[in-house]
Amino acid sequence: MIRLGVNVDHVATVRQARQAEVPDPVAAALLAEKAGADGITVHLREDRRHIQERDVERLREQAATKVNLEMAVTLAMVAYAERIRPNDACFVPEKREELTTEGGLDVVSHKIKVKDAVKKLQDRGIHVSLFIDPVPAQIEAAKQVGAYAIELHTGTYCNANAAAREKELAAIASAATLARSIDLEVHGGHGLDYENVLPIADIPEIVELNIGHSIIARAVIVGISQAVREMKELLLRARR
Ligand code: PXP
Repeated sequence: MIRLGVNVDHVATVRQARQAEVPDPVAAALLAEKAGADGITVHLREDRRHIQERDVERLREQAATKVNLEMAVTLAMVAYAERIRPNDACFVPEKREELTTEGGLDVVSHKIKVKDAVKKLQDRGIHVSLFIDPVPAQIEAAKQVGAYAIELHTGTYCNANAAAREKELAAIASAATLARSIDLEVHGGHGLDYENVLPIADIPEIVELNIGHSIIARAVIVGISQAVREMKELLLRARR
C-alpha cells in the first residue's frame, strides 16, 4: 500500500493571512492522521510565510505518524533540522519570489553542498529525500550524494495537457525504475489531485506520495477527515 503524506502548509497560510491563532495546522494534521494519513509534511520556508518553527516543534511532539520536513539546503535550515530531528527531511529548491516549489533541486550542480547537508541529517538518523525532476542525471547525482530517497517532481505531469501527459508519465515511470535499480527509495509529489493521482500511484516503485493543495482545497468544502479518506480510498485502487 502506497503511503500518503498530507502537506498541511495551506492551513498555516490561512492562519497567517490574519496573523491569527486559527486554523491550526497541527490540529489539521492530527485529524488527517486519524483519517488515514501515513505521514505529515510541512515546508518551513526561509521567509516563514506559512509554517512557523513552533508548528514544526508541536508537530514533532504530537504527530502519531511521521513528520517530513521540507526545507531549503541552507546552513540555518540544516542546523534547525539537526536540532528538531524530524523523521524525514526533503530538500527542495527555494526562492523567495516563488509561489511554491517550481522545479526540482539541481543536485548535479550543487553536489558538494547537498552531500554535506545529506550527511549531517542522516548522521542524526533522519531519512533524507531530494525533490528532483525525473531526469537520469539528477537521480544518479542523488545516489552519489548519499540520499536515502528521491521525491520525483510530478508537477510537469500534472500541468501537461492530455497529449503531453503520457510522455511525462513515462518519464516519471522510467525515472522511478532507474532510482529503484540503484537502491533509492522513490516518492512523488507536487500538483497531485483526485483526478490525476492514480496513474502515478500505479507506478510500482513509488512508495510514498506527498499531497497538499488538492486535499486542503477539498477539506475547505467537506472537512479534512473526509478529504483525506477520499484520497486514501483512491490510492487503495492503485495497481500494486
Ligand atoms: N512535495 C514537495 C517537495 C513540495 O514542495 C510540495 C509543495 O509544497 C508538495 C509535495 C505538495 O504539492 P501540492 O501542494 O501541489 O500537493
